Amino acid sequence: MRDVRSESSQYAVVIGGTGMLRPAVHALLKRRLKVVVVARRPHRAAPTGDHHDQFLPVVSDWSDPETLVEDVLAATGQHLAKYLIIWAHSPHREALMHELERVVAQDALVLPVWGSAGRDPREALTEQADSFAGHRVRHVILGYLSGVNGSRWLTHTEISTGVLNAMESTREIHVVGRLDPWDRHP
Ligand SMILES: NC(=O)c1ccc[n+]([C@@H]2O[C@H](COP(=O)([O-])OP(=O)(O)OC[C@H]3O[C@@H](n4cnc5c(N)ncnc54)[C@H](OP(=O)(O)O)[C@@H]3O)[C@@H](O)[C@H]2O)c1
Repeated sequence: MRDVRSESSQYAVVIGGTGMLRPAVHALLKRRLKVVVVARRPHRAAPTGDHHDQFLPVVSDWSDPETLVEDVLAATGQHLAKYLIIWAHSPHREALMHELERVVAQDALVLPVWGSAGRDPREALTEQADSFAGHRVRHVILGYLSGVNGSRWLTHTEISTGVLNAMESTREIHVVGRLDPWDRHP
């Protein structure tokens, strides 16, 4: 039987942490968490100052979820994660979400991030298969912002701040920016 340690740890796993979630990765490092960043080029999220020893880059691709999960567990020394943030695109997302159940501790907080550039993200959310049953899940839906000069998509900082705020929230669905009226998006 595999030696997977089930106790809650101080590991956070961020899938797709080198783009819009990069500020969130750096905030988690400042919170003294050990942060596993999974991407094809994870070093792009490496901290520039302190916290190098907590930064655990994993080179892996969404298209092979089983290997990706094994790579994550190898990086944590088989410790399960306390936080899991997931940003991945179709068609890999669903299989990846299912496989990633193996990396989280029982008391983990799981934050799937849903983008809105293509279509109303609420549709994708209602179509998703049930993953992470029995875990605390906070779905983070990325909306848009509007002002006097029209509407715009969220910046990386706004997206990352939204994810960090969702970590503190008790609501299962956390919208960053606005979704309505949907036809006014940029
Ligand atoms: N509502 C909104 O405001 C909204 C919603 C969605 C997106 N956006 C914007 O749109 C921009 C583009 O989105 P994006 O999806 O390119 O996000 P991104 O977060 O900028 O980059 C995608 C992330 O996924 C990783 N990745 C991509 N393909 C992968 C693969 N096959 N296997 C493993 N990891 C992979 C990338 O790293 P590697 O390339 O190293 O693998 C990177 O970490 C974002 O910068 C964001 O600002 C805005």
